Amino acid sequence: MTYKQLKELWFKFYRERGHAIIPSASVVPDGDASVLFINSGMHPLVPYLMGEAHPLGVRLANVQKCIRTGDIDDVGDATHTTFFEMMGNWSMGDYFKEDKIKWSWEFVTGKDWLNISPKKIAVTVFKGDEIAPRDEESVKLWLSVGVPKERIYFLGKADNWWQLPNGTGPCGPCTEMHFITDKKPCGEKCDPACDCGRFVEIANDVFMEYIIDSPGAKPRKAKQQNVDTGYGLERILYLINGYEHVYQSELFNGALKIIGSTCKSGRVIAEHTRASIVLIADGVTPNNTGQGYILRRLIRRAVRYAHQLNFKDYPALINNFSGILGEFYPEIQASEKITKVFMDEVSKFEKTLERGLKEFNKLKTLDGKTAFKLYETYGFPLEFTQELAAEKGMTFSIDEYNAEKDKHTKMSQTASAGAFKGGLADTSGETTKLHTANHLLLEVLRRNFGKTVMQKGSNITPERLRFDFTLDHKMTEDEIKKVEKETNELIQKNLSVTYKEMSLKDAEKINAIGAFGAKYGDVVKVFFIGEDSIEICGGPHVQNTSELGIFKIQKEESAGAGIRRIKATLS
Ligand code: SER
Repeated sequence: MTYKQLKELWFKFYRERGHAIIPSASVVPDGDASVLFINSGMHPLVPYLMGEAHPLGVRLANVQKCIRTGDIDDVGDATHTTFFEMMGNWSMGDYFKEDKIKWSWEFVTGKDWLNISPKKIAVTVFKGDEIAPRDEESVKLWLSVGVPKERIYFLGKADNWWQLPNGTGPCGPCTEMHFITDKKPCGEKCDPACDCGRFVEIANDVFMEYIIDSPGAKPRKAKQQNVDTGYGLERILYLINGYEHVYQSELFNGALKIIGSTCKSGRVIAEHTRASIVLIADGVTPNNTGQGYILRRLIRRAVRYAHQLNFKDYPALINNFSGILGEFYPEIQASEKITKVFMDEVSKFEKTLERGLKEFNKLKTLDGKTAFKLYETYGFPLEFTQELAAEKGMTFSIDEYNAEKDKHTKMSQTASAGAFKGGLADTSGETTKLHTANHLLLEVLRRNFGKTVMQKGSNITPERLRFDFTLDHKMTEDEIKKVEKETNELIQKNLSVTYKEMSLKDAEKINAIGAFGAKYGDVVKVFFIGEDSIEICGGPHVQNTSELGIFKIQKEESAGAGIRRIKATLS
């Protein structure tokens, strides 16, 4: 069965059962700053699983692009990839266990569908805990479709409970289907929870009857009973074609030919390149924080393995993947643009990799300080150095690494304080106005969301201001309107703008907002907009807010984990 046939089969099966087919969402979460990446099909659907009405109804299905980097070390084995596609279907308060288990069985074993021998399937069921009882109903249903008792396994929360990695939202017990490979049991207790590779999980049906309101809170019974399903496309594709691992399927075999290797290094290069192009296509660029850091780590890890194999033809690899995935995900067709972002990062890293490895190989022991030096001088991401260290049986203190990093950040911020222009591209009249508006906006955000809101970055051009700040959620329409209105109210108070120079200590005493932490010298300029906003800043500003005009928020979006970005104009 081909990749395309498998997807079409999935859509057909669920279309025939009344499901609307929806597109995959971006792998970068929209408005959820608590997680870096979409890790499952249910993730973009959380509002609907919580009760909001979906415009296409209560039965949905799709294939979702997912990223999970937790098992990055396992990439290269038979089943693990950091990017994968999840075939999913959902009932939003509609059908529940009976239909779902019947359909799951039919799809996996039915002659017109995957046609896997029933003998090759084992299922797992939640064994129960203090929140939810053992899932007897699912057991009955599995028995009724013909799964023998001895192939039903009871597992605990680690295996048979699903919730989002941020520990909140819709959740519940699940029941999984595992493909039984021809491998011998690794021991008497070899069961689907075992990681010896005999059982390969291919499907997970979650019965979402609970909601967790905040991290650490006890799950409570939800009003709406949902079904959330995830089928691992890469795994199913290699298993039904009788292969031994994902790299033999058409998704990877072309790439491995280009690389000229099927060993672990070749697989890692292929897998990380594939994941990277998915991230780049969704707008991620290599960076030192958030999603960008993961992308950087993936590309640099690929380059390290490529260095071992003396492989350099990434553009051919990118074309190969973009050809396969682009048919379903149009954003991945832009292979030239993707190649440019990818190759820029490759060139940056290739320059220092060899020297860094030489330096590393000289080391007999390692400490946090040296690990940071490898990052600072040669661009070795922390996890990368950890891996190299593990290969040589060395360890080092992450705390020491972080302390060194903090020290370094502070030092470089002090050094750049003199050159600080408040993120202004130039100091024309328009940018000056927008800069004053920036201060008012920060003040209003803090009035609305609390003093924990801090500026994370600012960029002003004559047309607009772009302001990044810490906030744990996507602002609602109402919140955006309120912030806009209150900023305009401050502007309309015709406040005069003045400044005083004072010691950093005095500035702290009068509660001046310090937007950039330790960036300042001993004596700072503090700007006062009336008495409403007091903020440390290098200027320049208008003399009176009456010069500003009407403030309008044009866009509110994510700028990384826990960081929101507002783009606004004055007219
Ligand atoms: N959310 C579940 C999972 O990811 C089912 O899709 O396994």
